[in-house]
Amino acid sequence: MPKHAKRDRKFRFALAGAAAVAVSLPIAAFAATSGSPSPQVEPRIVGGNEASIKDYPYAVYLTDSRDNQFCGGVLVGRSSVATAAHCASAVSRDDMRVVAGRQDKRDNDGIVSRVTNVWVEPGFSDPGKGDDVAVLTLDRDLPYQPAKLPDASDKSMYNEGTNATVVGWGRTADGGARSQYLRSAVVPVIGDASCSSSYSNYDAKSMVCAGYPDGGVDACQGDSGGPLVVGDTLIGIVSWGDGCARAGKPGVYARVSTYADDIKAQSRGRSLLW
Ligand code: ARG
Repeated sequence: MPKHAKRDRKFRFALAGAAAVAVSLPIAAFAATSGSPSPQVEPRIVGGNEASIKDYPYAVYLTDSRDNQFCGGVLVGRSSVATAAHCASAVSRDDMRVVAGRQDKRDNDGIVSRVTNVWVEPGFSDPGKGDDVAVLTLDRDLPYQPAKLPDASDKSMYNEGTNATVVGWGRTADGGARSQYLRSAVVPVIGDASCSSSYSNYDAKSMVCAGYPDGGVDACQGDSGGPLVVGDTLIGIVSWGDGCARAGKPGVYARVSTYADDIKAQSRGRSLLW
């Protein structure tokens, strides 16, 4: 990418940030007067903001044959999409579509692909037991930059307190409606000991948790399969949680570092191309 393009991208991002602050101010003021204990109570991807697909070019969503968005996904190669195993098994391969390069579900931007192969992590049975990872092979190469997969040197990204970002088109409140637009939220990585005390079935090998002790910011239904990133590196795949954004009940993600070799093998080395 040419240098100026990168600068433009940053600039656009700054503008979006300023707009988001302007929009959220009155809501924050209202929250303050209503005495809510949550620091971020806007009814958005549960505590997040609208996001630009240009900042998350690898973010995709899955639809069934009737155009219902049911999960998220993440490009990890030109024609490979990582998602949650429970998403890949929810709809038959022939009925599944992958929508890339589109921010607003009601737009026609981007590219809609079909799926030629579905690979599900062999140990998978239930998200609560881990191995909630799958790779979809698309019927074409896409012109969008894939996310990076973590290698051994990225281990520190899983340290408690690392600020990660989750993006998706899922519900904007516990039990609420799904979002029309892509949204993003920053959620700190939670350590294994702390996550084990939230969930007795937490497994540090196959899962990683992210969120705030008081809740308020989280992924939610419809975000499953979507990316949890640090920079452009995929560290997690939205998997499960007890409700959404509840205090003491963080979001649980598939721990991508554990599955990076499998994901690479399934994407046939295509992720090395860019
Ligand atoms: N299982 C949900 C889905 O299929 C995702 C749940 C994520 N929940 C959470 N609290 N982070 O979309």
